[in-house]
Amino acid sequence: MSRAVWVAGNWKMNGTESSASDLARQVRETLPERPVRVALCPPSVHLAAVREAIAGSGILLGAQDCAAEENGAYTGEVSAAQLVDMGCECVIVGHSERRRHQKEDDALLVRKLARAFAHRLVPLYCVGETLEERRAGATDAAVTKQLDQGLSPALGHGLPFVIAYEPVWAIGTGVVATIPQAEEVHGVVRRWLAKRLGALGDAIPVLYGGSVNRDNAGGLLASPQIDGALVGGASLSSEEFLAIVRAAGEKKGGEAS
Ligand code: 13P
Repeated sequence: MSRAVWVAGNWKMNGTESSASDLARQVRETLPERPVRVALCPPSVHLAAVREAIAGSGILLGAQDCAAEENGAYTGEVSAAQLVDMGCECVIVGHSERRRHQKEDDALLVRKLARAFAHRLVPLYCVGETLEERRAGATDAAVTKQLDQGLSPALGHGLPFVIAYEPVWAIGTGVVATIPQAEEVHGVVRRWLAKRLGALGDAIPVLYGGSVNRDNAGGLLASPQIDGALVGGASLSSEEFLAIVRAAGEKKGGEAS
């Protein structure tokens, strides 16, 4: 089956309103005609500026996180409903930086995913092992636990979602997983999806993230196991990001929607 190919830019906590708007406009103006779903995930304070810059372009607006609660007295939080109101169509959930710095655990992520699904946001659910886990031979167990405990309880409604495999040791380090390393874990995720969702699991894209750049994107994205990329640092340059989009567009079997 052909799965949608995604390239999502996670801008993390970078930029100003005007730089966010400029970057989004540059991506929009030079976006190649490719059967790739392109998403931009700016800091939440820049969502409105980016929404304006990409209006009508087909580029998806995404957020980097959403609250586990629907609304109420949760100072500093942004709800899934508010993200939809801002024009978001997708949201990153369970990024390792939030698991680590904000101490987000799988039980919390189930609740965040439930809010995202309830508002028809497409979650980009992140999984990945630490260097210690990899060295201990516990990569498959770590990823499977994140799927079993952080994702599985939120499923069961048939709504679309995306999984991003992001080895923690490859994020922001310039160290990229080798293609066999990435393929091995993508295989674990794909088998988990088949077991959990049967044939429906086949439609779920599994992206790779971790030091993806214009030089390594072609090799990674040529793998039939890798359905796209979640890009951090390289998404802050429109040229780098668009080179990755072009590489994703070369994939066989991708579809626009
Ligand atoms: P880098 O591409 O900067 O390694 O970040 C990856 C990432 O965390 C995307 O969510």
